[in-house]
Amino acid sequence: MGEIEDNNMKRTKLVLLPLVGVLYVFVVWSLRLFETVPQRSLKEVQSPMIHVNQDCQFVYLDLGSNKGVQIRKLYEPWLYPGAAIIPFFDKLFGHITKSSRRGNVCSFGFEANPRHMGRLKHIEQSYRRKGLNVTFYNNAVSNRTGEIVTIYSDTNFDIDWGAGILDTAIDNKINMTEYKVLTIDIVHFIRSQIAPLKPKAVFMKIDIEGSEFIVLPHMLQTLTLCKDIITSFVIEMHEWAKKSMGSTLTFDELRTMIRKQGCVPSEIVKVDDESFLHDVIVEPNW
Ligand SMILES: *[C@@H]1O[C@H](CO)[C@@H](O)[C@H](O)[C@H]1NC(C)=O
Ligand SMILES: *[C@@H]1O[C@H](CO)[C@@H](O)[C@H](O)[C@H]1NC(C)=O
Ligand SMILES: *[C@@H]1O[C@H](CO)[C@@H](O)[C@H](O)[C@H]1NC(C)=O
Repeated sequence: MGEIEDNNMKRTKLVLLPLVGVLYVFVVWSLRLFETVPQRSLKEVQSPMIHVNQDCQFVYLDLGSNKGVQIRKLYEPWLYPGAAIIPFFDKLFGHITKSSRRGNVCSFGFEANPRHMGRLKHIEQSYRRKGLNVTFYNNAVSNRTGEIVTIYSDTNFDIDWGAGILDTAIDNKINMTEYKVLTIDIVHFIRSQIAPLKPKAVFMKIDIEGSEFIVLPHMLQTLTLCKDIITSFVIEMHEWAKKSMGSTLTFDELRTMIRKQGCVPSEIVKVDDESFLHDVIVEPNW
């Protein structure tokens, strides 16, 4: 009897002891985890060690950011293989690899649709944490500042095609959402915020769902589409918006008028890069 009990005890100890050991190690380890998590986030909040680049050697202006994919293509091109815009970024800002990053390019993105701002501010924060100078503005790009305009936005949130100051492109008008958004005089912004930085090159994308028929004449009148201000730009002209905007401007006319400004004109880059519209699943992490 006694012997059998002894053996049972031994067997129980043999099983229990390693279990207790493993449990002990696990408890200590998880306690340490709990200790370090708040410490880490505290450090992030307290220390101003994150230095966002102030020296904008190059500038990218993203008018009509939508989900921010084009700005991500600038900083994380390896996530967007084959995207047609990337060779133009490389040409103007220099080639990028994971080891030689684009910390010398400052980006300013404008998006009128408030629905995209959560995502855009998330990208902004992630990049700034890495020292990249990226800012998104929730404004409708226009020829004057501080005007309240209505932005029409589709119910299909994911890409939200054609959200802008016109509801022409929105099929589902019953369920569309209307937002009130402030305009920004983009020429004034460029002249007061970008030009003083004296960047080596400025690249601009204009994809603003019809507002180009307000902005382009304003840019031409103020000699903004000149190489000393904008090195090169890519534009999408939205034919469907022309009529309601009371404009007849064609791409060819734009090209002619750019040459008539009496300056060395900005280069028009002909590329239509609508790739990766839904963005990639990988989180922004430069
Ligand atoms: C980005 O650079 C501009 C120009 O130097 C500067 O005014 C701005 O404060 C910078 N942004 C951040 C977030 O530091
Ligand atoms: C509008 O949205 C509601 C609720 O999601 C839906 O039931 C309805 O069918 C939509 N109407 C149209 C015209 O799409
Ligand atoms: C802005 O553009 C609109 C539409 O072309 C025009 O009617 C208006 O006069 C312009 N305003 C300024 C300040 O240029």
